[in-house]
Amino acid sequence: MFVAKTIQEIRRFLAPARREGKGIGLVPTMGALHSGHLSLVDCCMSENDITVASVFVNPAQFNDPTDLEKYPRNPARDMELLSAAGCDIMFMPDVKTIYPRPDRRTFDFGELGNIMEGKFRPGHFNGVAQVVSRLLSIIRPQRAYFGEKDIQQLAVVRRMTLMLGLPVEIRPCKTIREENGLAMSSRNELLTPKQRENAGLIYSTLREAAEMKGKEPGELKIFVTKKINSNPLLEVEYFEIVRSTDLRPVESRAGLDEDLIGCIAVRTGSVRLIDNVFFPNFDPL
Ligand code: PAF
Repeated sequence: MFVAKTIQEIRRFLAPARREGKGIGLVPTMGALHSGHLSLVDCCMSENDITVASVFVNPAQFNDPTDLEKYPRNPARDMELLSAAGCDIMFMPDVKTIYPRPDRRTFDFGELGNIMEGKFRPGHFNGVAQVVSRLLSIIRPQRAYFGEKDIQQLAVVRRMTLMLGLPVEIRPCKTIREENGLAMSSRNELLTPKQRENAGLIYSTLREAAEMKGKEPGELKIFVTKKINSNPLLEVEYFEIVRSTDLRPVESRAGLDEDLIGCIAVRTGSVRLIDNVFFPNFDPL
């Protein structure tokens, strides 16, 4: 595996592949890699000739400085994992490489940018759009891979590529879970064993809600929030039921026959966890 730290290094490495018309795929990450990331790498490798994984903890997307400070970092292990997975290039830029000058661009994602994560983490999606657009313009992949756990990020990144007219296909990959159902996340490393065990309740409750028939979104919201909050280690920040097409929250299922998604954010101690569940063909009336 080739490890690149600068734009020149990665461009030089990719130039022959590009000349030969090879397919280049990008897996953007913030490191502290786990099986969820490795499944993105696998997916990327199966659809492209060259797989690039970037590891960059992006300060622009952290609205909380302590969250940035305590974000888990393990570049040596990341390197081993990527190399063992068969990744071709690991791109590890520093902040000056990604932002030679402060990035003052602001993206207007409309309501999509202001609900759920956008509401609770102001500025977060703007920072994600800044870094992903930079990575896409440096690497110029044909395809880029994002996990469905961060479903709103996926929608925001898609919209950003449409707004900027970037010639890249944004590919979603399934959420990978721990044995108790907890969605894999680098932040899980910050949980105590007890928190980690109890956090299994998040997904089991979402699944239960997804299997309930004939309930209105409001009733499902009460059910999910009450059940998760009844665990003293967990506190729901939001639970929204949204349309899968544009992530717009729905209040009533009358007349709806499209797929819906239940999206949740839960706090346990100082760690914030997000997850979602699909409600296929939301039980049409
Ligand atoms: O999902 C993440 O890890 C980050 O938000 C991303 C897409 C790598 C951008 O920094």
